[in-house]
Amino acid sequence: MNIGVFDSGSGGLTIMRALDEAFPDRSLIYLGDHANAPYGNRSPDEIYALTLRNLERLFGEDCALVVIACNTAVARGLRRLQREWLPFSYPNHRVLGVIVPVVEDVTGMQWNADQLPVARLGHAPDLNVAVFATHHTAESGVFAGEIHKRSPHIEVWQQACARLVPLIEEDAPELVLKECVEGYVSLLKSRMSGKEPDVCILGCTHYPLIEPLFREILPQGTRILSQPSVTARSLVAYLDRHREFPASGICSRTFLTTGKPALASRIASRFYGRAVTFISAENIRSEEWSAAGA
Ligand code: DGL
Repeated sequence: MNIGVFDSGSGGLTIMRALDEAFPDRSLIYLGDHANAPYGNRSPDEIYALTLRNLERLFGEDCALVVIACNTAVARGLRRLQREWLPFSYPNHRVLGVIVPVVEDVTGMQWNADQLPVARLGHAPDLNVAVFATHHTAESGVFAGEIHKRSPHIEVWQQACARLVPLIEEDAPELVLKECVEGYVSLLKSRMSGKEPDVCILGCTHYPLIEPLFREILPQGTRILSQPSVTARSLVAYLDRHREFPASGICSRTFLTTGKPALASRIASRFYGRAVTFISAENIRSEEWSAAGA
């Protein structure tokens, strides 16, 4: 079997890169829905339907386990997919996200198959947690909700950063990006009544590209969580516990796109750290997409 990695476009390649290093003995298939990106411009129902459709594509590629490497798709779709669709249509498949692993890291609670808290790894100290994310992710309140389920005493401050994904996609000059990050950080701090963030979550898969800017602008001593490496670590632990998803022993990487392969390949190296050749998702052997939810 393969492990699927799904994103709305290129941002998930920052997660794929960490999974590539963590799983030398597994086949990974990345699917970027470039034809419909960015999901930030879409309604929650559209995001849900697109995510479902792309998960089915990856299931059709022998991916019994898929990681949704897009915070926006996780925030707007994952719970509903796990509740209303997966157990009935694909009871033997699993879909995991990139938000719970980060939440577990902050709170010290472990990821289980149903993404319910099962084990406390330690007491989470009183913390002020700053979350920077797309407007969908911030508006959904998913980070605060998942953190408070486990550790109600942690204070979570969320900031929607609507301009960052388009600016990163267009490879905007550093000065422009810096001004933009400064603006969002000061907006967040103006709501924190003089408190300083102890931990910062970059809750969008595009933001690792500008992590140095956040590091420069946030107060010294703020711990910035790396979503790619936390997710990879979590998935290693998950697969250790779930022997029903054995390693194939083959290290293959496939990059599929619903958009134009040449275009997707051109910007990929900024996210992945090295050249990537995308192929069209139309060329894969998946049958008709299910009409359900589309
Ligand atoms: N990759 C998405 C995320 O992590 C943002 C990009 C989009 O809006 O499609 O939230």
